[in-house]
Amino acid sequence: MKFNERSLGVVLTGLAAQSLAQCPDYTGYSQQPQGDPSSGPLGLPFMRPAPACRTFNSSAVEKVINDMKSLLKDPDVARMFENTFPNTLDTTVRYYSQEQNLAFIITGDITAQWLRDTANQFAHYGSLLGGDPELAKLVKAVINNEARYVSQYPYCGSFQPPPESGLAPSHNDWADGVTVNPPVNNQTVFECKYELDSLCGFLKLSRIYYQNTKDASFMNDNWRMAIDQIFRVINEQSQPTFDEDFNFISFYNWTGGGGSLSPLVNNLGNGEPKAFTGLVGTHHRPSDDLSTFAFLTSANAMLSIELTNLADMLDKTQQLTNVSQQAKQWSTKIHNAIWETTVVNNIFAYETNGFGGRYVMDDANVPSLLSLPYLGFLDKQHPAYIATRKILLSAKNPYFAAGKKFRGVGGPHVDPWHPWPMSQISAIFGTDDDQEILTSLYLIVNNTAGLGLIHESQSIYDDKDYTRSWFAWANSFFAEMVLDLADRKPHLVLTQNKSYRPSF
Ligand SMILES: *[C@@H]1O[C@H](CO)[C@@H](O)[C@H](O)[C@H]1NC(C)=O
Ligand SMILES: *[C@@H]1O[C@H](CO)[C@@H](O)[C@H](O)[C@H]1NC(C)=O
Ligand SMILES: *[C@@H]1O[C@H](CO)[C@@H](O)[C@H](O)[C@H]1NC(C)=O
Ligand SMILES: *[C@@H]1O[C@H](CO)[C@@H](O)[C@H](O)[C@H]1NC(C)=O
Ligand SMILES: *[C@@H]1O[C@H](CO)[C@@H](O)[C@H](O)[C@H]1NC(C)=O
Ligand SMILES: *[C@@H]1O[C@H](CO)[C@@H](O)[C@H](O)[C@H]1NC(C)=O
Repeated sequence: MKFNERSLGVVLTGLAAQSLAQCPDYTGYSQQPQGDPSSGPLGLPFMRPAPACRTFNSSAVEKVINDMKSLLKDPDVARMFENTFPNTLDTTVRYYSQEQNLAFIITGDITAQWLRDTANQFAHYGSLLGGDPELAKLVKAVINNEARYVSQYPYCGSFQPPPESGLAPSHNDWADGVTVNPPVNNQTVFECKYELDSLCGFLKLSRIYYQNTKDASFMNDNWRMAIDQIFRVINEQSQPTFDEDFNFISFYNWTGGGGSLSPLVNNLGNGEPKAFTGLVGTHHRPSDDLSTFAFLTSANAMLSIELTNLADMLDKTQQLTNVSQQAKQWSTKIHNAIWETTVVNNIFAYETNGFGGRYVMDDANVPSLLSLPYLGFLDKQHPAYIATRKILLSAKNPYFAAGKKFRGVGGPHVDPWHPWPMSQISAIFGTDDDQEILTSLYLIVNNTAGLGLIHESQSIYDDKDYTRSWFAWANSFFAEMVLDLADRKPHLVLTQNKSYRPSF
């Protein structure tokens, strides 16, 4: 461990940490209504932390909030936007040093950096990066920190603070008693469940940064090493369980001891066997739950898209032609395998195993099947999406549930009767139907337990029964969706039928 105590970044962090110590913990803060209620029927409270307690300030973010507050017609939606849009910057930047080009971003109530969450925590700031160079530098520092993680531990999805931060690693009760191969160091790794979409998250954040800044300086040695490791995982995890001579192939396995979130993984920590299809296997889902079958359709869809984006980015900057070639080949192979092996009668399976096993369901966590249009995999009018969506948003999906006030898709992460607001956000991205959009929007806005923030899940039986008061990814995703509607469907949410896009 090596860090320079005299570096400006560390000194600033020390000062910020001192003043932040007087700030209330946002987990508790977000469980009680705080500021004045909005003037709409729901009277939703203002939930941003006091300015001195915010973890990063961005003038571009404040401008978009002011623009949207003056344009949105429903004061309750405006209040939700005002609370959620800045939530990542207000509450989750635990460490940032421009000099070290490192930033540590927590998920909210869990003090660790998840590759998936961070990509989505920052996705809605993409169009602001050109107008706010300081925000762009922060995102670049996030990418560099993640490049170090991925180059070292490509199978892991969640990480500890970088040593330069001087922050202590957090203990993860859920990792107690877990044996993972290849082995990991718990000073760097918070949890090492192998989730394919975590690597896609890293690619997505890199792509968002590049698209909006045209700055290729993030492609440093760390980043190139991380990209090589991503291809290593793709090559390893697309292989079948047995080779032709029935040698058992295992590059990664995760065995649970007695830990509370460690259901024993069958086949000595390898999960269910898989055949070769061209898809890339995963071990756990984007929800961190164990996969039933290894080939998760939506994670492969995201991978196919982000590999095309990676190739595009490399070609435009004339870098790593060998990687660009591989990225294109894999993207096509995965795309074809999705259409050939996961769709039957226009219905996508959530998971398959290559032996004919299919699990038709959806889980709320993005990448989900409902979010395929959001991911950029297909058009929302595609007949296979329309037919699949109809099943996913009905009792035919094992993890769909409906009550008097709230309904949607959940998953085994909480339980079957707690659908997630995130699923209704994905549903909005997947339709052009005005009525469906408004219904989903108000299912979300009406069901925040009066707190004006997006929760992980909401019981269909009890308004007050929700999980995770502080979940930055879900807040960002909601704000991204409202911003998308302001552009795509202004007449639904704005006072005037005129598209709004942030401009600087
Ligand atoms: C953000 O701005 C407020 C003043 O408006 C200041 O008190 C706070 O320290 C700033 N936060 C950071 C991380 O610079
Ligand atoms: C890392 O693992 C060791 C050995 O199991 C344990 O004693 C320690 O508490 C762990 N550290 C963290 C931060 O979890
Ligand atoms: C677990 O994975 C390691 C590689 O990380 C491999 O060497 C070992 O054979 C695997 N063990 C089992 C039981 O699958
Ligand atoms: C691409 O080529 C570079 C330089 O020859 C090499 O270091 C790297 O491992 C290659 N990457 C891949 C994914 O093949
Ligand atoms: C949201 O709540 C309002 C006011 O109670 C109600 O009129 C509306 O039908 C609700 N919308 C949905 C989709 O539940
Ligand atoms: C909103 O404007 C678009 C064109 O900009 C038009 O096609 C649409 O019909 C308008 N909708 C309403 C409700 O006025």
